[in-house]
This record gives sequence, structure tokens and C-alpha cells, in this order.
Amino acid sequence: MRREVLGVLATLIFRVSSETCVEPVEPVEPVDPHSSDFFLQLALKVEKQIESQILFLQRSNTSSTRHFPRWSQALQFFQEQLRSNTSTALLWSTLRQFPPRWQELDSKCANIGRRFPTLVSQNLSVLEAYRHYACHVAPDYFITDPHVALRADVAPLENGCISFSARPKVVMAKNGTHRYDAYRHCSGSCPDDPAWQELSVEMVDEDILVLPSIRTPPGMEYQHSLTDLLAQAWTVLPLLRDSNMKLVIYSPIQGQLLQSMGIPPEKLLDIPITSFETHKLLCVKPGRTMTLWRTARADGADVPFLEQRDTRIYADYWWRLPGYQLGPEVSDAIARHASFAGFESKQDSVVFVLRCSERRQLANEAEAVGAVTRALVEAKSDFQLLTFCPGREDFLEQVRKVRQAKLIIGEHGGALANMLLAQNGTGIIELVGSPEAQIGLPGEFPPYKSMWYGGAGAAFAFYRVVLYEPTLVGPAVRLEDLQEAVQKWLSA
Ligand SMILES: *[C@@H]1O[C@H](CO)[C@@H](O)[C@H](O)[C@H]1NC(C)=O
Ligand SMILES: *[C@@H]1O[C@H](CO)[C@@H](O)[C@H](O)[C@H]1NC(C)=O
Ligand SMILES: *[C@@H]1O[C@H](CO)[C@@H](O)[C@H](O)[C@H]1NC(C)=O
Ligand SMILES: *[C@@H]1O[C@H](CO)[C@@H](O)[C@H](O)[C@H]1NC(C)=O
Repeated sequence: MRREVLGVLATLIFRVSSETCVEPVEPVEPVDPHSSDFFLQLALKVEKQIESQILFLQRSNTSSTRHFPRWSQALQFFQEQLRSNTSTALLWSTLRQFPPRWQELDSKCANIGRRFPTLVSQNLSVLEAYRHYACHVAPDYFITDPHVALRADVAPLENGCISFSARPKVVMAKNGTHRYDAYRHCSGSCPDDPAWQELSVEMVDEDILVLPSIRTPPGMEYQHSLTDLLAQAWTVLPLLRDSNMKLVIYSPIQGQLLQSMGIPPEKLLDIPITSFETHKLLCVKPGRTMTLWRTARADGADVPFLEQRDTRIYADYWWRLPGYQLGPEVSDAIARHASFAGFESKQDSVVFVLRCSERRQLANEAEAVGAVTRALVEAKSDFQLLTFCPGREDFLEQVRKVRQAKLIIGEHGGALANMLLAQNGTGIIELVGSPEAQIGLPGEFPPYKSMWYGGAGAAFAFYRVVLYEPTLVGPAVRLEDLQEAVQKWLSA
């Protein structure tokens, strides 16, 4: 790639120099990381490097993105900035408001129904252990709260840069005068993190819109697009339509999903993140604006984030709360865009999402489907039971199936993220691991890990979890509890 560019450059130099006198390329001054307008200098420096290359390339007016690996000054700057907090705040304007969401609270532990979902069990010691966890072991695990009214905002940042990676530990946006901490904070420890040693700078000559909520963990792009991107992007769609801004995405699948709800491809700017090791500083050229998106409290106050080094995962994913509230709208938009016949599909099914993969497969999945059938039959319910393997279906087919659901049942995991595509009024029964079932699992598994995510699940009218436990033959759902959960939904 670089060799090609140099080759073209050499040819052009040769051609040009035979006609005119070539100016030597000016040496670029080192940048002072202590300077207040460091970012502007940074941007100008990138600009100069680009200009020195394109001087002979007769670059057209079309935009381009360029990659500058391992830019030590950028790193140095971040190390300084992470220790200071003297910059001016951005000016935010509101796109959407989101009301608080209430569900019935557990009479013995008010964290249940709020930051933790309601567990259904006929076994009192199972219920007691869960209450003990939610109210005594991990009462402060989540700092998100569905009882807080939220809003989605945007703010412009001119000549700015933002840090980014597949699964960021901290996200900060900055120009010479203004700063926004988009995710988590540093207290002097960030500069020691290896992520900052591998920062690369990407400069775009576009006005862009950046959703700091986007997560792009390789292999998990689909589920994270549902929970962290689609609904968030839905809020900025009118803004994209009426401006020259492009929405930054980090993988092709994100582009495909956004196009499915009607965002035209020319409104997207793909800056690929392909590995967990990619850490970027994304900058706009001087004169360009980066518009940032955030979730704030309805009164305009910042929502709290944890420190970068905090080990609580998903504990401060505030954007998931409005995201889950918007799910039905996004689903409708996709159905409309795909011209599904009568896009408001009839919700006549109970959909059991199967895992259909080797990982974390339930030993008694067939019996679990049987327990659901029994509950429906005993109640003489008209709902048909539909089972499917999301991973084996085309995206629109998945949407179509999920939109038929009045109740979705499934084991915690990526496939169940499809709940985001359910129609309004759909209920959820999630099968979650007991603390013992989660010991030793690869990945990050706090006890009772659930798609409720600190209150996001409160957006659903009905949301219950049922435990699976380790047994000699593998993890097994508590079948009587599952049957009872379905009965509770039928009589809700
Ligand atoms: C940053 O702000 C915090 C609290 O607002 C304060 O305690 C700290 O001293 C500040 N640090 C600097 C470098 O100004
Ligand atoms: C309740 O569940 C626990 C854990 O599975 C089990 O050890 C216990 O025997 C159960 N108690 C009753 C009364 O079924
Ligand atoms: C930083 O961005 C803000 C908000 O867009 C703008 O008012 C300010 O002029 C910018 N600062 C620099 C140094 O470009
Ligand atoms: C979903 O249903 C609730 C309650 O009926 C209603 O308040 C809300 O506006 C509906 N949302 C959508 C997107 O239709």
C-alpha cells in the first residue's frame, strides 16, 4: 500500500520536476503537548504531512481518510490531557427525551425491579440468595438507573479528536479548548495503560457524527450493534438527513444494519476496527466539525461514569437505557424499510430463541421448550410456540420472527440481543446462570448476568429471569421455575 503510494509519488515527482522546479518539503515542527491548542497543531501537522504527499498527487476534491500509525505525539498529548481537567464543556442540544421506567420492585430488595431483573423461582433459598446478591453483595454494581429520566443530546466539536477502540476502556474527545469525557474517567492512571501506547491517528476530511456508544468487539459486532448502535443511530437520523454529516462506523456489519433501517450508505463513513488491539485517535481536519452524541439526564446533568480502572463491566452503559426504549421504533423502521407485508405483524407467537452453538448450551433445552409448551397448553393459550436459531437466519428473517413474538424466551447471550427488535409490548423471559453456573466461563460473567443491564430491560412491559444451574450433564434450566414464569406472563 505504502509502496504503491511512493511509486505514484515518484512517478509524479519525476514528471513534475521535469517541468517545474520542485520545492523541498518543509520539515515539520515538533508539537508541544503542553500547548493549549495542541489538537489544532496536531491537526495542522497531519495536514502538512498529507499535503506534502498529495502536492504531486493532484488530489481531487473527494474526501479521503488516512492512517498514521503510532503517532507518539498524539500519545504524549493524551497522557497530559488525561491528567488535566481544565477544558471547557461542550454545548449540548437535545434530540429526544426518555421517561423513567418503573417495574414492580421486590418487597424485600428494592434493587430488584430496578438495577436487577425479577427472578422467578419456587425455591425460597434460590430467591434469598438472589436478593442477598442484589442488595448486599453487589448493590452498587450498576450505577445506571431506569428511574432517571434521560435524554439524547448532540454537541459540535470543531477541529477535534476522539479516542476509540473495539471495546474502549475510556473515551475522550478534545480540541484545543474543549473537552468531553464520553466514557469513563481517568485519575492519573490512564497514561500507563498499554492502550495509549498503541494509539494511531486517523484524520478525516468530513463533517462527522460520532456515537461514542459504539462497541466493535470482533466476533460480537452483531449483538453489540443491536444494544449499542442501532437505536442510538436512530435518534440522529433526522440530523443526518438534513446535513452534510456522515455517521462514523467501525465495521461493515454496522453499515448493513444501519442501512436496513433506512440510513443511506453515502451517509456512513467506515473506519474499520478489526482487532481488540486497535486503538485510534479519530480527528477531523481543521475547519471540520465532529458532532458528538451522548446520553444525559433529562435535567441536562452529566450521567455518572466510573473510573477507567473500575472492573464493573456494563455497569455504566447509560446509552443502553434509551436504546431499549427505542427498540420498537427501530424494529418498525426496519420492517417498513424492508416493506414487510403489513409491517405491524401480528404478535401471535411465543418465540423460544435456541442457542444452536457448542458454547454454553443448555443440557435440558428440549425439556425447557417442553415446559413452555406445558404452560401454554395448561392455560389453553392461543399463542403458537416458535423456536429458532438466530445465528442461522438472514437478518431480515430474524426481524420478521422476533416481530411475531408477544413473548421471547432464551438463554443469556448474543442471540437474545434480538429482543431489541421486538415490537412494542413484548415480554421477556431470560435464562440466566446461577453464580455457580458461571464460574470459569470464558468472557466476563458477573453472577446472574442478564440483558437487563442495570435497568435497560425495564423498558419491557414484562421481564423475568429464570436460573440455570450446573449439573453433572451440563448447565440445566430450573424447569418448574420456567413454567411458572410463563404462567405469570400469561396472567399478567
Ligand atoms: C480535576 O477535578 C477534580 C474534581 O473536580 C479535582 O479534585 C482535581 O484536583 C482536578 N485536577 C486538576 C489537575 O485540575
Ligand atoms: C432449592 O434449590 C437449591 C439449589 O438448587 C437446592 O440445593 C435445594 O435443595 C432446593 N430446595 C428445595 C426445597 O427444593
Ligand atoms: C473547539 O470546539 C468548540 C465547539 O465546537 C469551538 O467553539 C472551539 O472554537 C473549538 N476550539 C478550537 C481550538 O478549535
Ligand atoms: C408502546 O406502548 C406503550 C404503552 O402502551 C406506549 O406508551 C408507547 O408509546 C408505545 N411505544 C411505541 C413506540 O409505540
